[in-house]
Amino acid sequence: MDLDGLFKEAEKAALHSYSPYSHFRVGAALLSEDGRIFTGTNVENRSFGLTICAERSAVVAAVSSGVKRFTALAISTLDSESPVGPCGACRQVLSEFMSGDAPVRFGGSGGEKVNTTISALLPFDSLHDLGKT
Ligand code: THU
Repeated sequence: MDLDGLFKEAEKAALHSYSPYSHFRVGAALLSEDGRIFTGTNVENRSFGLTICAERSAVVAAVSSGVKRFTALAISTLDSESPVGPCGACRQVLSEFMSGDAPVRFGGSGGEKVNTTISALLPFDSLHDLGKT
């Protein structure tokens, strides 16, 4: 699966968004080391602080299926024309399960895509390898 295909999966996942408060639909698709795709969408709540972002939904879905390493990520924000990158909390969580050089692509409805990496999204991630000692 290439990044184009992964992005299409993220777009499909965004259609499942539960976002009655923000009306901002987000989908995320993770490619696992063994070539599987795990998707997630944002799930909001009337207690706003309980909202779960699409990226963390995808991580939780994958880990719940026993899959913990990912080689690429795509994020689709259907309700913005321009690309919108992952929030700070999600950058931290994603870095737990992905290498710094893993590619990340995100884009909105306008066709423009940002192509970056986990380490560019979370620079100076000094504790990246702490769990592996
Ligand atoms: N959201 C995500 O799902 N991922 C992001 O990277 C940015 C924000 C969600 C949270 C909330 O449901 C809505 O988008 C507006 O912030």
